[in-house]
Amino acid sequence: MTALLKTEGLCKRFGSVRAVDGVDLEVREGQLTAVIGPNGAGKTTLFHLVTGAIAPDAGRVHFAGRDITGWPPAAIVRAGLARTFQITSVFPELSALENVLLPVLAQRRETARLWGSYAGHPARDAALELLDRVGLVAQAHRPCGQLSHADQKLVEVAMALATRPRLLLLDEPAAGLAPGETERVIGSLRDMVAAGGVTVVLIEHDMDIVFSMADRIVVLHQGRVLADGTPSEIRANPAVKEVYLGGTFAGRP
Ligand SMILES: Nc1ncnc2c1ncn2[C@@H]1O[C@H](COP(=O)(O)OP(=O)(O)OP(=O)(O)O)[C@@H](O)[C@H]1O
Ligand SMILES: [Mg+2]
Repeated sequence: MTALLKTEGLCKRFGSVRAVDGVDLEVREGQLTAVIGPNGAGKTTLFHLVTGAIAPDAGRVHFAGRDITGWPPAAIVRAGLARTFQITSVFPELSALENVLLPVLAQRRETARLWGSYAGHPARDAALELLDRVGLVAQAHRPCGQLSHADQKLVEVAMALATRPRLLLLDEPAAGLAPGETERVIGSLRDMVAAGGVTVVLIEHDMDIVFSMADRIVVLHQGRVLADGTPSEIRANPAVKEVYLGGTFAGRP
């Protein structure tokens, strides 16, 4: 399988903290990869380095066969690599469709006419197609504020898909959700990856869900890759067992 994303010796220090410390990683096209690890392991910093939000002290980032190290974030998005942030939000008073229309119109360099009609407009069809990809087309006309938290998270994912990424990085897409809702959000993402066209790397703390739904798991610990493999390989990995206490990371409930 092709490596869509590849990092080589990626490093980032904050003062004396080695947040990301020599990370070599390959993300294969068409997979759902989960990045796990205790608080402060360097997961979010790794995403920042890959998406150009911060520059690495050392190391390279290759995406879709190109060396994108040091590229501005907007150029990286245009190359097909999108992300969502640990904390994001939708406009609660706008419908799911209107929320997704905003980035679709921005992508088409058109100004939003929020009170206008988009009947028959290609942007409307594009937005509906994105909602369909996350399984939300039936909720398209409901105000986002009335949707469940899980559905609001999926609207955010649909918004991130507006740039037509080949790779989507999601930082804790299920943060703050009840366990059943987390399962639904990650399940929808897994279905979306299985349907083709986008590869997903997500940061997630719920181990049961990660182990049941990810194709591949990367364990970060103190800025380094502790283990990298299929869920069964990670479960059997002695180094991971040492960091985990009774199936959960130390410090995690
Ligand atoms: N801008 C910054 N300035 C200084 N230190 C930082 C900065 N960003 C991150 N760090 C430190 O780098 C380390 C890695 O942080 P990071 O946010 O990448 O961890 P994480 O794995 O995403 O944690 P969490 O699970 O809590 O989100 C931590 O020790 C953190 O305090
Ligand atoms: Mg984080």
